Amino acid sequence: MKSIVHVIGARPNYMKIAPLMESLKVRSPFRQVLVNTGQHYDDIMSQAFVRDLGLPTPDYDLGVGSGSHAVQTATVMIEFEKVCQKERPDLVVVVGDVNSTVAASLVSAKLLIPVAHVEAGLRSRDRTMPEEINRIVTDRLSDLLLTPSADGDTNLIAEGVPAEAIHRVGNIMIDSLLRHLPMASLDRIRERIPVVDGPYAVLTLHRPSNVDDADVFTRILTAVRTIAESMPVVFPVHPRTRQRIREFGFDGNFAGIVLHDPLGYIDFLSLTSHARLVLTDSGGLQEESTALGIPCLTLRENTERPITVTHGTNQIVGTLTDAILEGFRRASSPAAPQRRPELWDGQTADRITRVFCDFLSR
Ligand code: UD1
Repeated sequence: MKSIVHVIGARPNYMKIAPLMESLKVRSPFRQVLVNTGQHYDDIMSQAFVRDLGLPTPDYDLGVGSGSHAVQTATVMIEFEKVCQKERPDLVVVVGDVNSTVAASLVSAKLLIPVAHVEAGLRSRDRTMPEEINRIVTDRLSDLLLTPSADGDTNLIAEGVPAEAIHRVGNIMIDSLLRHLPMASLDRIRERIPVVDGPYAVLTLHRPSNVDDADVFTRILTAVRTIAESMPVVFPVHPRTRQRIREFGFDGNFAGIVLHDPLGYIDFLSLTSHARLVLTDSGGLQEESTALGIPCLTLRENTERPITVTHGTNQIVGTLTDAILEGFRRASSPAAPQRRPELWDGQTADRITRVFCDFLSR
């Protein structure tokens, strides 16, 4: 029987692999093996997501943990090579743009195992962002490039990828979002976060360029405190960001901002889907807020997901205090109703399954 190895490692990976494994289980004959690299290891960063999304228990836990980019990437490579040598899969599936993604692609390509990249073709054109390096290298090594939107196809064609390797399948994260939205009620979180009973905004921040630099972090917090004078801002804090708050002595800088530990997938969806506004430096949340029709201010200078600006609710506002507040004013005036981008319809996993069936029957 042909086999497929799926690789997950960090929080944004789980919601992309879960619907795909489910679809392949129902609609394909392939044996599936799940490998968790352990790039994220705190319960709430990994296990809670595995449980919420109904992912099977991973067949392999590589336990790589944190480290510099080189250490983390190299450790995944050393451990993942052993899995590939044992399993000899017919296809390795990687998702997104984290260090585990590029590490598994490198190992597979060198063992001549075909690689499928889900969420291929996204480009910020900002190589100071580690994820951009991961995207470029992973796409270069992949045999099947599964793109979420037309801009992905255009980027890949411009880089010389053969058209027959590119499959526009849509956005698989939206499969998970649509499936779990009916469970995402405020009742789940009201007791822990009482401010959700009135209008509120949600903030997430974890990019090193925003939280490792005390000046940038201060500029963002100054803007968020002003926004919090209009409505409370709920801030689930990523472990990296929590460390920086401690190191910079920022604990007193959060008037009007409700700090919270990170949330599981469904609790976080409960929080965002009822919010008036999202402020974020995450990639996935730009897409989720577009799918939910909730205004999003992206606290970065660029995005690899331009469709969320052209077709969705996203504004790229950067990290200057005044620019963030200007974006807030624009987001407060009622916008034209938005439609979900094409193929963000909850059927992406089934389209990928068809591509895999075709590829593995050749
Ligand atoms: C990684 C991804 C990023 C993604 C993010 C989602 C890369 C290059 N970056 O960034 O694209 O948006 O995940 O969260 O792969 N930590 C913990 N517990 C954990 C995980 C991390 O305490 O379970 C702390 C550690 O101090 C660690 C730091 O967070 O050093 C950063 O973790 P790391 O996995 O290196 O990158 P993220 O910033 O999470």
